[in-house]
Amino acid sequence: MNTQYITWDRECGYQGKELARAAEILRRGGLVAFPTETVYGLGGNGLLASAAEKIYAAKGRPSDNPLILHISSQEELFPLVREVSDTGKRLMEAFWPGPMTLIFEKTDRVPLETTGGLDTVAIRMPEHPGARELIACAGVPVAAPSANISGRPSPTSAEHVREDLDGRIDLIIDGGNVGIGLESTIIDLTETVPVILRPGAVTSAMIAEVIGEVRLDAGLAGKDSLEPPKAPGMKYRHYAPEAAMTIIEGEMETVIERINQLAGDYPADKVGILAAEETKERYPHGQVVTVGSRTAGTIGKGLYRALRTFDHLGVEVIFSETFSGERDSEAIMNRLKKAAGYHVEILPGK
Ligand code: TXA
Ligand code: MG
Repeated sequence: MNTQYITWDRECGYQGKELARAAEILRRGGLVAFPTETVYGLGGNGLLASAAEKIYAAKGRPSDNPLILHISSQEELFPLVREVSDTGKRLMEAFWPGPMTLIFEKTDRVPLETTGGLDTVAIRMPEHPGARELIACAGVPVAAPSANISGRPSPTSAEHVREDLDGRIDLIIDGGNVGIGLESTIIDLTETVPVILRPGAVTSAMIAEVIGEVRLDAGLAGKDSLEPPKAPGMKYRHYAPEAAMTIIEGEMETVIERINQLAGDYPADKVGILAAEETKERYPHGQVVTVGSRTAGTIGKGLYRALRTFDHLGVEVIFSETFSGERDSEAIMNRLKKAAGYHVEILPGK
């Protein structure tokens, strides 16, 4: 398949008839990758079973892993879900459009192929204007997982999408680098007390402020949890660089010292170090990849790009600093620990 490319930018939006062309591909059951504020999505018509099947095939994703339906306005929600609780309404009011996905009981309009056989459906209204224009123009809810090959880090630029999906989908919309860089927060509204299934830029504290009580899915505790995660996608090894990764946790100076000690056991071109802008100069031996700045709050935005860079460098092991207490640290540490296969060394004295 010959993948077409078009662009979207914040000042000029889409050019000429390109938006109409992309929307038409979606309506007819083809696949279009598009930017959102979190990560790039791989979109298909959310009402067509055949489009869901194409998405699973293009990503190499197991078809029991449900897709998120993206909408462009709140009215589009009602035909898709059985009921919207007061809690749901308050969350939508506070965080839509934005990086939050809500799970509801689904109606028959939503094919089981889209929801991986579940009776529930995940819905999100993205903030990104290019995404919402595309969905509105298509006139159907857009089913979209992250636009990466299953198991690779989610794409935060059109270049990442091209790397993974060129030749496998109809069209890629290049909207530059995304703003947030980590997938949306997922909240399950089908339980009496809403449950966070995946942490994201809408944090548990922000949610609690709006609805009072919220729980964290027991499966999020990591590999030692006895309960399987409720979001089927969270059970797969995700966001993984090819090299084995270890996170070093502790007070900053001891972390730097320990990483330098561990790195010394490998040839400099085979050891990767994931560091913040503020500490990147502290590692004389190894391939240092800067993830972003702690003070500027850009760690989340740079994480997946950094993980992809290690694959290009061909390192065999990676040692990473810890990123706690920064913006989006709940979500950052959740993704980082998954990428490391929950391999964390905790240093004494913290
Ligand atoms: O930010 C995002 O959410 C991005 C952009 C493109 O919008 N999308 C995204 O989709 O991250 P994906 O498919 O990579 O992740 C969706 C997650 C999976 O872990 C899936 O198992 C879970 O949502 N999920 C979807 N529907 C669900 C449902 N009905 N019940 C429980 N989990 C569900
Ligand atoms: Mg994904």
